[in-house]
Amino acid sequence: MNYQRLLVTAALPYANGPVHIGHLAGCYLPADIYVRYQRAQGRDVKFICGSDEHGVPITIRAMKEGVSPQQVVDKFHALIRDSFADMGISFDIYSRTSATLHHETAQAFFKKLYDEGLFEEHESEQYFDPEKQVFLADRYIIGTCPVCQNPNAYGDQCERCGSSLSPEQLINPRSALSESVPEKRKTKHWYFPLNRYEDWLREWIVEGKKGEWKSNVYGQCKSWIDAGLQPRAMTRDSSWGVPVPLECAEGKVLYVWFDAPIGYISATKELTPMWSDYWQREDTKLVHFIGKDNIVFHCIIFPAMLKAHGGFVLPDAVPANEFLNIEGEKVSTSRNWAVWVHEYLNDFPGGADMLRYVLCANAPETKDNDFTWKDFQTRINSELNSNLGNFVNRAMVMMHKLCKGKVPPMHVNHIDEKDAELAAAISVAKKEIESSIEAYRFRDALAEIMLLSTKGNKYLQEKEPWQLAKRLNATGTPASAEAVEAQVQIDNCIYFCLQLCANLAIFIAPFLPDTATKMCHMMKVVDRMLQWENGGRPDLLKVGYSLREPEILFRKIEDAEVLAQVEKLRSGGTKPTTQLPASKPQEPVNTQLVSASKAPISFDEFAKIELKTGTILTAEKIEKADKLLKLQIDLGTEQRTIVSGIAQHYQPDEIVGRQVSVVVNLAPRKMKGIESAGMILMAEDEDGKLVFVSPVQAVRAGAEIR
Ligand code: 2FM
Ligand code: ZN
Repeated sequence: MNYQRLLVTAALPYANGPVHIGHLAGCYLPADIYVRYQRAQGRDVKFICGSDEHGVPITIRAMKEGVSPQQVVDKFHALIRDSFADMGISFDIYSRTSATLHHETAQAFFKKLYDEGLFEEHESEQYFDPEKQVFLADRYIIGTCPVCQNPNAYGDQCERCGSSLSPEQLINPRSALSESVPEKRKTKHWYFPLNRYEDWLREWIVEGKKGEWKSNVYGQCKSWIDAGLQPRAMTRDSSWGVPVPLECAEGKVLYVWFDAPIGYISATKELTPMWSDYWQREDTKLVHFIGKDNIVFHCIIFPAMLKAHGGFVLPDAVPANEFLNIEGEKVSTSRNWAVWVHEYLNDFPGGADMLRYVLCANAPETKDNDFTWKDFQTRINSELNSNLGNFVNRAMVMMHKLCKGKVPPMHVNHIDEKDAELAAAISVAKKEIESSIEAYRFRDALAEIMLLSTKGNKYLQEKEPWQLAKRLNATGTPASAEAVEAQVQIDNCIYFCLQLCANLAIFIAPFLPDTATKMCHMMKVVDRMLQWENGGRPDLLKVGYSLREPEILFRKIEDAEVLAQVEKLRSGGTKPTTQLPASKPQEPVNTQLVSASKAPISFDEFAKIELKTGTILTAEKIEKADKLLKLQIDLGTEQRTIVSGIAQHYQPDEIVGRQVSVVVNLAPRKMKGIESAGMILMAEDEDGKLVFVSPVQAVRAGAEIR
């Protein structure tokens, strides 16, 4: 099929919490890379997303926080939308399912199926809260888990041990709304007859998509279909959601997985009056980017709904990714074991491309993968900086030094094997990158770009234009044959390096858009140059064109930064106590005292203070002194007693073993009858709590601080 336009959707995230980097890696980043690439190809593409604002977890959160569900989704919709925007995820629209247009669209969809007599009506017994007078979804029933005895397990799952449960299995079930004991009552719902679509799904997926869809996606679909499909209830008893558009359905809403995927259609309607071109013309290619937990909904249930309705295109591909674990453990929102995107951007301002790089290079495309902060640091420092950043910087610096800041001429009769190899590598890379992206293999595509940059570094290293320049200077006579030959070689080398820079900007743009923009700025070209058709050519920058000064593309990640992030994770997400270095490239230090409130002291005066690292051996309360703790400190060669005013901030037990910074040459003084021989340094956080000023890495007791 020759497609005329592309419709790309990314799973609508639930608006009941922020997004974490696993969400980005699983769905939004690959979708964005794909879309940016397609736009660069000049194709007609629409990129659709929005917040999924219905469903039980949202109402539970609202209940726990004592606010309305609308307040919950308003807050998280804004936070999620901004996190995506700050990460450069370039949706054409980021809508929401509480929008009126969405309610109308979802209701019209349901009504059409209803009017055609498609739904089956069934009455069943469900749990009912006699106090609140409402039916309870499984999530609303809480009780003791029969497996791990967690007293707060839900009626569908125990979040402590992960067991899937049904409400009947809970010991002492109670309503999450009122704590009362739930009763069983009869209720009526509308069921979508998925079983009637089994043969069609088998033909379309099991026979039609073999070898075409990713094996994880295909495999999950096949096992669902092989197990036999059952009718599924598409309505729920609740007051939060899209009301069922039937008179006899008061107190009932559409099942969240019925309305959410229709959200893709309503968001497209909101985006463009031409929405039906994208949804209803055969020559549209529809691609759903999702995480693996959404496969069945996007490959089986939603396509069956579309088929039943008629007139809609079906997904051409559903490139679902696996999960991204963090530091060897599964993401857990309840334990706060996650790297939240908005917090990352706070801790690493302007760091969107760095994270995009790491999440793509390590994307969980074929299996669950692990994100570690150490790996983040290594990839930024040793790959992005040492490879791509280094090549672009060297090429630009050399051009300014040896070619007067301009694109030098290319001497065609002097092209050697290495020049030709580099030019060929650019064109081969373009094809490889294209075919990888078209096949949703974004890791491979990125690796290909980095390989091309490696080739650039190798080329520059072998050509050594700086040595040629020495030869040129040594001749003293610019017109001598040797000097002319050296200049020709320099010109060709820098010419090809610059052409490679321009190509790298085009290729990297879908992956690292801010970086590509910076490269364009340096090369004094407009972003339009980044169109894909320009790639692959070794003559993009015109001879004689003057370029700007190089800028540093990426900064280095310091050990202290990644240690602080790991500490933040392990401490359950509290702010790192360690001082982060400046996140932006280091500015020259201002010698004025910016925020000191005391008079300046000389270095010699400062040097009089002797500071050492110590370890707290014991800590105890002091009678009649509710602010003081008596500490025994190991300073390596000696032990000291120090009285410290931290009793209101720490229990003695929790600080034993901590490393602290000690002023060791402070004159001893008596406090509450105890001689204190030194002082512990503390910092005050924004809540007024005192936190230890400790080394971020363990050091020996007694290590000097300077
Ligand atoms: O898993 C989720 O986060 C769902 N909110 C995804 C919905 S995708 C679509 F169907 F809307
Ligand atoms: Zn359990």
